[in-house]
Amino acid sequence: MSITAETVSYTELGFVNTKEMFEKANKEGYAIPAYNFNNMEQIQAIITACVKTKSPVILQVSKGARNYANPTLLRYMALGVMEMMKEMEISVPVALHLDHGDSFEICKSCIDSGFSSVMYDGSSLPYDENVRISKQVVEYAHARDVTVEAELGVLAGIEDEVSSQVSHYTDPNDVEDFVKKTGVDSLAISIGTSHGAYKFKLKPGESVPPLRFDILEEIEKRIPGFPIVLHGSSSVPQEYIALINKYGGKMDNAVGVPAEQLRKAAKSAVCKINIDSDGRLVMTAAIRKVFNEKPGEFDPRKYLGPAREELIKMYADKNENVLGSANRV
Ligand code: G3H
Ligand code: 13P
Ligand code: ZN
Repeated sequence: MSITAETVSYTELGFVNTKEMFEKANKEGYAIPAYNFNNMEQIQAIITACVKTKSPVILQVSKGARNYANPTLLRYMALGVMEMMKEMEISVPVALHLDHGDSFEICKSCIDSGFSSVMYDGSSLPYDENVRISKQVVEYAHARDVTVEAELGVLAGIEDEVSSQVSHYTDPNDVEDFVKKTGVDSLAISIGTSHGAYKFKLKPGESVPPLRFDILEEIEKRIPGFPIVLHGSSSVPQEYIALINKYGGKMDNAVGVPAEQLRKAAKSAVCKINIDSDGRLVMTAAIRKVFNEKPGEFDPRKYLGPAREELIKMYADKNENVLGSANRV
């Protein structure tokens, strides 16, 4: 099998699409972790934590990650962890997923190079245009047994190159029509989360407002049993913010979605929960700590290694105590 062939099917590479993952997660009331990676330490930590906790996982690659690390190298890294698992004689189901694809072309390119799942994000487009391109992606993907996620509603914050100051909650009146017209396999919705480390602007003494579970329930009524995806689901753990600030960083007012809210979501029709920022925070805190405590250190392994260890702990904790995905394989 050669992965330098012009097109390659994900099944040859050992990945799975998200269909069975979501069916099981929906039935048993947990969510599949979807963790982003851009480099070796992140992907090693994700896989190590998921093997350790026996959790299925969705490895997410954004357009920004492809630009940063090179699309071919990223694909080989994902393939590398599949080979590594074979050597360990332990494996968990892994989907390789494009996060926030902003065109048919990028979705096609990922499918052709061995991704098992893609997100087409037309959430900032007029409804009919979102339907048209999502459907085009579905037709190409389904012919190759690749699953497709699309989005309705807009999350505040930055979604790759698309950014919005305010969120527009998903309108439950649209979801049935959208799913029927496009044929997508899962739907990302907007119920109060946003991307990044500053999710809520709180006045002193104010606590984080709850997610709009009323909208989620309405959506579930319109498309019963349909897999729902929650983006912007980092919790922004305050212990890491405190470490970053202690060791020379400046991240005042960083705040995320409380773990309790995610636990509740994971038990509902939400069966994929996207987490990227928490990984960035953990790495930054761990690296800052080493730089501060050992200013003479200049071997990247001596600061990336501890960062990787801390990441493993964080991902394992999410699987075991937040998403409920541990011990599901
Ligand atoms: O939703 C966005 C993800 O966190 C990816 O972020 O576009 O900076 O790689 P990125
Ligand atoms: P966070 O920024 O909350 O980690 O969200 C990540 C995400 O939604 C990736 O698609
Ligand atoms: Zn996202």
